[in-house]
Amino acid sequence: MQTVKTVPELRHAIRVWRLAGESIAFVPTMGNLHEGHLKLVTVARQKADKVVASIFINPTQFGVGEDFATYPRTELEDQDKLNAANTDLLFLPAVPEVYAEDANTVVTVTGLSELYCGASRPGHFNGVATVVCKLFNMVQPDIALFGLKDFQQLTVIRAMVRDLNIPVEIAGVETVREADGLAMSSRNSYLTAEERVTAPKLYEALCAARVAILSGNRSYAEIEQNAWLFLQKFGFQPDYFCVCRSQDLKKAEVDDSDLVLLAAAKLGKTRLIDNLCFSIGNR
Ligand code: PAF
Repeated sequence: MQTVKTVPELRHAIRVWRLAGESIAFVPTMGNLHEGHLKLVTVARQKADKVVASIFINPTQFGVGEDFATYPRTELEDQDKLNAANTDLLFLPAVPEVYAEDANTVVTVTGLSELYCGASRPGHFNGVATVVCKLFNMVQPDIALFGLKDFQQLTVIRAMVRDLNIPVEIAGVETVREADGLAMSSRNSYLTAEERVTAPKLYEALCAARVAILSGNRSYAEIEQNAWLFLQKFGFQPDYFCVCRSQDLKKAEVDDSDLVLLAAAKLGKTRLIDNLCFSIGNR
């Protein structure tokens, strides 16, 4: 695996591949890689001739008082994992390589970015959309892969790509879970041993809500309320638990058939998010 730190080096490697007629899949990450990230690389391998991954802890998507300074930095281990997963090139830029000091341009996907995680983390999705747009311009991939775990992020990126006519296919890849159901996340390492035992209850709440809906319950407010109480009982501070339309994340109506259950809750100091996407036979 080749590792490059600057945009000119990245562009050079990409140009060589393009001249040879090769297609490129891109996996953007913030490092601290787990099985979920490696699955993105595995799927990327199946989709294109060359796989580019990036590790960039993007300061603009962290709010004041969030964990930018303490976000796990595990560059050497990450490089080994990407190498073992058969990544062709790692783009590992420093902050000034990505953001000019006097940069004035921000990409905002209005509406979608203010809901759910965007309501609790103002500006977060502007940071995500801006850096992903910039990375797409740097790498110019044919396809880019993102985890379904960050469902709202994926929806924001799909909207940005459509609205700005960015010529890249966006693929969502299934969430990888621990044996007890907890969605893999870099932030799981913040959980204490006791919280780690409780954490899968978030997925359990999502599964129970899905069972209720698949059994014909369409009282979505009641389902959300039950999930909220269940999570509180186990010591979570729920942020949101919503039955939404998977297409645009609007609140689901009884005749919507493609749904996503979106949930976020704090357990101690750790904010966990998860979701379940499924269809019901309404029509
Ligand atoms: O999901 C992530 O790791 C980040 O939000 C992303 C997409 C790499 C942008 O910084």
